[in-house]
Amino acid sequence: MDGNAPSTSDRRAIPARSPAFSYDDLPRHWFASNGMATQMANGVNLLFPSGERFFIRSVKHFADRIADPGLRAQVQGFYQQEARHGAAHQKQFEVLRAQGYDLDGFLRVYERIAWGVLEPMFSPEHRLAVTAALEHYTAIMAEGALAHGTLDLAHPAMQALLKWHACEEIEHKAVAFDVLKAVDPSYATRVWGMVTATVGLVLFWAASTGYLLRQDAKAGRPLSLRALREFRQRRDQSVVRNVFVRGMREYFRRDFHPSQNDNYGLAERYLASAGLAPA
Ligand SMILES: [Fe+2]
Ligand SMILES: [Fe+2]
Repeated sequence: MDGNAPSTSDRRAIPARSPAFSYDDLPRHWFASNGMATQMANGVNLLFPSGERFFIRSVKHFADRIADPGLRAQVQGFYQQEARHGAAHQKQFEVLRAQGYDLDGFLRVYERIAWGVLEPMFSPEHRLAVTAALEHYTAIMAEGALAHGTLDLAHPAMQALLKWHACEEIEHKAVAFDVLKAVDPSYATRVWGMVTATVGLVLFWAASTGYLLRQDAKAGRPLSLRALREFRQRRDQSVVRNVFVRGMREYFRRDFHPSQNDNYGLAERYLASAGLAPA
């Protein structure tokens, strides 16, 4: 196993939690009252539930080959956390449907292409490498949510959902990576996983966002120039620079390990403040 990876004795606990969220008064444009910001956030959320089921399948394929008992325990926590994230996001989808959004047209096409066509084309090692790369992106987004105020202008219910999800993404950010290191430590596998993950995430995220923005426009809620200008002015929230450029720059280092980004404390502090820390 990689020299940077934690040893069995210092592997972190990955507890499963099931907090409840109430979206009763969630406004249509819940993120900064801005249609673009909201639909980008809704757009990536649409990718999560079935994406997280793919992450679980990818790791589970190699479950029997994980010798390290500490990593085996973390893998169990990873399954449970990801399954709960998917379920929590699906509940928020019901609110979007009640607001009149069609999600299922997009979800059907996304799931058919991603998991019906692309997934079977890739080797199990490549699927795991894609998972490890996407987990790096989610950990970076999580850090943005907790440390850089990305969600400061989001509705409190969505902040609560996304910050809980963010903390658990940080808690389990190294699991798929460490399983990949154990079963296929080659740099080429890791890099090709990142390339595939990046292309897939960009295309599906753009498609889901566009799908929702089109519905806003059709319903007489086109993006105003003011909303676009406000969105562009928030350069500190640039997804391209803060997620994709940073993500690839870090991940392509030969000696990269997710634990090198020391953001576990961010998750611990938020979980404690939200009453979600382990007893
Ligand atoms: Fe997740
Ligand atoms: Fe994750």
